[in-house]
Amino acid sequence: MENLYKIQNLKHEYKWNRQSVPILRDLSFDLERGCFSCFVGPSGTGKTTLLNILGLIENPLNGNLIFCGDDLAKASEKVREKIRLHKIGFVFQSFYLIPTLTVFENTSYFLPQLGHSREKSRKWALDVLALLGLENHIDKRPGELSGGERQRVAIARAIAKKPTVVLADEPTANLDSETATRIIKAFKELQCAEGTSFIFSTHDPQLVEFARTVFNMKDGLIQSRVDQ
Ligand SMILES: Nc1ncnc2c1ncn2[C@@H]1O[C@H](COP(=O)(O)OP(=O)(O)OP(=O)(O)O)[C@@H](O)[C@H]1O
Ligand SMILES: [Mg+2]
Repeated sequence: MENLYKIQNLKHEYKWNRQSVPILRDLSFDLERGCFSCFVGPSGTGKTTLLNILGLIENPLNGNLIFCGDDLAKASEKVREKIRLHKIGFVFQSFYLIPTLTVFENTSYFLPQLGHSREKSRKWALDVLALLGLENHIDKRPGELSGGERQRVAIARAIAKKPTVVLADEPTANLDSETATRIIKAFKELQCAEGTSFIFSTHDPQLVEFARTVFNMKDGLIQSRVDQ
C-alpha cells in the first residue's frame, strides 16, 4: 500500500532562553494510508511537537517529511496551508474553536473553501455532529459547552471535511469512557467507509487498545513500534 508518511531522520528543537533545546532527536518511520496509529509516552516527550510537524503546522529543523509522495520538510507556508486545508484534519489539544461561532458554524467552517455546495456542506456537518452525539447543541457557542462537548466539536470540525488524514492530539482526554468509546467507534467507521487515516497522541489505554500501530516515545525518540 502507498505510504501516507515517510519520515527520515526527523529532528526538531526549540529555542528557550537563547539556548537550543532538542525535542525530537532522530525519528524515522513509515505510515500507510488507512492507518490507525498512536504515539504514547510521558508528558513533554514530544508528541504534540511531532503531530504539529506531521500536520504541516511547523517545519522540522532537519530530516525528510514525505506526505502523499511529496517532500514537504521545507515547504513554504503557502504550500503547507493548501495541503492542510484539503488533506489534513487537525484536532488540537486545546481545541481552538472560534468562540463567536456556533457549534454548527465551527464544524462547517472550512467546507465552503473546499468548493462544496452549501447544501452538501450543511448535510455533512449535521451528519458528523449526529455521529458524535452533538445534535442537540448545534446552535450553542463554545462557551456554553462542557469541556468534553468542546472536544467533540473540535473532532467534528476535523472530520467534516473528509480529509486524507486526521491528526488528533489526545482526542479522548476530556471524555468519559462511554463517550470516548463512541468517538473511537466513529473514527473506526470513517476509517472503513472513507479510508481515512488516523494518527493520535494519547495517554488513554482504551484508545491505545484500538490502535493498529503503537509508537512508544521517550525523550524525543521512538523506543518501539508495535503493530498489533
Ligand atoms: N514553543 C515552544 N517553545 C519552547 N519549548 C517548547 C515549545 N513547545 C513545546 N516545548 C517543549 O517541548 C517539549 C515537548 O513538548 P510537547 O508538547 O511536544 O510534549 P508532549 O509529549 O505532547 O507532552 P504532553 O503529554 O504533556 O502533551 C516540552 O519539554 C515542552 O516544554
Ligand atoms: Mg501534548
